[in-house]
Amino acid sequence: MTKKEANNSMDKIVSLCKRRGFVFPSSEIYDGFTAVYDFGPYGVELANNIKKEWWKAMTQLRDDVVGLDSAIFMSPKIWKASGHVKGFSDPLTECRKCHSRLRLDTMLEEVGVFADEKMSEEEINNIFNENKDKIKCPNCGASDFTPAKQFNLLVQSNLGNFTGDWSKEPTYLRGETCQGIYVNFKNVLDSSRVKIPFGVAQIGKAFRNEITARQFIFRTREFEQMEMQYFIKPGDDAQYYEEWRQARWSFYLSLGIKETNLKWHKHENLVFYAKEAYDIEYNFPFGFKELEGVHARGDYDLSVHSQASGQDLNYLDPVSNQKFIPHVIETSAGVGRTFLAVLTEFYREEELDGDLRIVLALPPKLAPIKIAVFPLLKNKPELVAKAREIFNQLKLDYRCEFDDNGNIGKRYRRQDEIGTPFCLTIDFDTLEKDEVTVRERDGMQQVKIKVEEIKNYFQTKF
Ligand code: GAP
Repeated sequence: MTKKEANNSMDKIVSLCKRRGFVFPSSEIYDGFTAVYDFGPYGVELANNIKKEWWKAMTQLRDDVVGLDSAIFMSPKIWKASGHVKGFSDPLTECRKCHSRLRLDTMLEEVGVFADEKMSEEEINNIFNENKDKIKCPNCGASDFTPAKQFNLLVQSNLGNFTGDWSKEPTYLRGETCQGIYVNFKNVLDSSRVKIPFGVAQIGKAFRNEITARQFIFRTREFEQMEMQYFIKPGDDAQYYEEWRQARWSFYLSLGIKETNLKWHKHENLVFYAKEAYDIEYNFPFGFKELEGVHARGDYDLSVHSQASGQDLNYLDPVSNQKFIPHVIETSAGVGRTFLAVLTEFYREEELDGDLRIVLALPPKLAPIKIAVFPLLKNKPELVAKAREIFNQLKLDYRCEFDDNGNIGKRYRRQDEIGTPFCLTIDFDTLEKDEVTVRERDGMQQVKIKVEEIKNYFQTKF
């Protein structure tokens, strides 16, 4: 795909998101708030369906992973112990002409020079100096920058601090959800029947002061993570790392994503907590970029929290009587990035009778609305009443939408755009012969079924 085509397809997705209520820029009536987005009525349904699928795959379908929902705010001691206060940063440079603050590793990558946010200040500045002439400020075009400095990404707050000078003792909004899992390791162990190897899964918000936030919901300052920490015996790392890499790859295939749109990326420069790190990348309109990280974190997290808190976070093996600090395999996915990957994957444009038909060919399990119910004519009370009766039955089992506005063709187009797999029309045959018409989104074929068969029919479809 050329850059122009890529921009074009991204623009189409952004436009659909705004037009049909999937995603809105935050605080729009106050000129917006950079790098923060809101999910609209269909967006929240799609995001919830993605989370539901992840939660099911990670907890319900396994007997070795339990769930957790830890608070966003935690003791600031946690972020000092974890290394985030000191080392959670990206390389920042400033354009000397227009004073834009920019992220150096992404600017280098954009001109084809390998760089990584995990490189040291010295390493990245050396690469920067060798390639200075290739880099231009995206805002003013100048090529005069300050040397890069590591910029800390943790977001500070004054929660619970009443001294007046909270910048000296800040609390933090969590920069990753997994810290809530590590500090609850003992609680989970003591209160449930888990034995090593076991995992703890959590979905929740995380916050980062991202230097440059572009590409719509790909990189935002407030976002949601779906993370799982798998606690294992030291030495078993390679086996479980491989198992989890396979499991996470298969998850995306189970969402209907084509394998050719996925790629592994191995990190050579590792973030401070990782012993090994691979990303699953997705082929976004702007190229292959990180969708999820799968990390081997060794005993790093439990060790630092054990030392800093003075609590014994060793595990006592009930069979061998051995005591050890468990190692961790982490899987860490973003809700927003999966959302964007899903929209990219299933967005289609087709020509139909000289018109453009936009279709979100979502798998039924992800579709925001599963079934749309239409009375053929809104000025025929007997059709509307029958359609309402069927809608009221279906909504007990499925997220449905009732639509009696406009001609049937327009109603189909509206549902195609938001990915509704089935539309059900109530017409005069319903009143006379107890038959409804079911129209399927992708092939647009229509079948007549008896009212009494509706329940069974959709049971086989979902
Ligand atoms: N606990 C490990 C961790 O947080 P990460 O690679 O920094 O690892 C994991 O983040 C995932 O979280 C990413 O693969 C991405 O899906 C999501 N993510 C990270 N930063 C994000 C941001 N600024 N906006 C949206 N999603 C983000």
